[in-house]
Amino acid sequence: MSTENNVDIIIERIENLKRRRRAFILAHSYQKPEVQDIADFVGDSLEMAKKALEADADVIIVAGVSFMAEVAAILNPDKIVLHPDPSAGCPLADFLTPSIIREARSRYPNRPVILYINTYVDSKALADYIVTSSSTPKLVSKLGHDEVIFGPDKNLADYVAELTGKTVIPLPPNGCCPVHEYLISEYHLAESLSKYPHAKILVHPETPRNVRKKADFVGSTSQMLKAVDVMPYKEFLLGTEEGLVYRARKLYPEKIVRPLNPKAICTNMKKITLLKILKSLEELKPKVNIDRRVSDRVREIMLTSMEMTR
Ligand code: 13P
Ligand code: SF4
Repeated sequence: MSTENNVDIIIERIENLKRRRRAFILAHSYQKPEVQDIADFVGDSLEMAKKALEADADVIIVAGVSFMAEVAAILNPDKIVLHPDPSAGCPLADFLTPSIIREARSRYPNRPVILYINTYVDSKALADYIVTSSSTPKLVSKLGHDEVIFGPDKNLADYVAELTGKTVIPLPPNGCCPVHEYLISEYHLAESLSKYPHAKILVHPETPRNVRKKADFVGSTSQMLKAVDVMPYKEFLLGTEEGLVYRARKLYPEKIVRPLNPKAICTNMKKITLLKILKSLEELKPKVNIDRRVSDRVREIMLTSMEMTR
């Protein structure tokens, strides 16, 4: 049997099981095309969290990295939340441990601790606020503090300081996403602009300052998609993980969208496959289990933060 036929069979089995189990598949925009196509919803981290809250389902399958699966479970303590590959972590989230946060609290007392959603649950439980790339600037400007602690992405911290005029202490000082830090560099930008000199440059705030400064737009993955739609230009280079290009081309076929670097791939995001989703639905595992007390605390912080940045 051809591979194409195999894929069709897998998709049909996923669709059938999805109905039987009353399951909802949430996917991030960096997922493989075939995973985005089978998902019930594709979005950025904030939209995934909001959708997880609304999903009318018994089972939620998260096609993304493990902190995203944790968020879905935190927001849905009474649903079964499945992560088809628990080894799909986020190297950026690995930068911030609870002990680093505790130490920062005693070194910088009276500053709020704002954590990026790209953190694990034990760190999140120590936060005052939890934000995403699209909501961080809004939250920081709303707070009555001139100095805040933000982690773990140093580039997002720098971007928010620039936008809000506040002092943002990056925690740790060197936290970064390897995909955005090393694969969306000034070198890649110059190289792609030499090939496509008329393209507009859209970048994620996890990219370094020297790249951001040369961009025409900075925003979360969903904000970048919106920019492709509303900017009165035809040609774009997306300075982020390459998966977003598939989504942009699908949504806006009349525009010419290319990756700023086609090799900017988050190997963790790409660990989720159709076959793993099918297995997960068949076996109803691997389940995301979080201690109820911790998840109650984090849910409260997340909901308050979401409310403040609505
Ligand atoms: P978004 O919230 O913009 O989707 O970003 C998530 C992420 O992991 C970026 O690398
Ligand atoms: Fe984490 Fe970077 Fe992958 Fe996003 S792209 S999930 S920040 S490693």
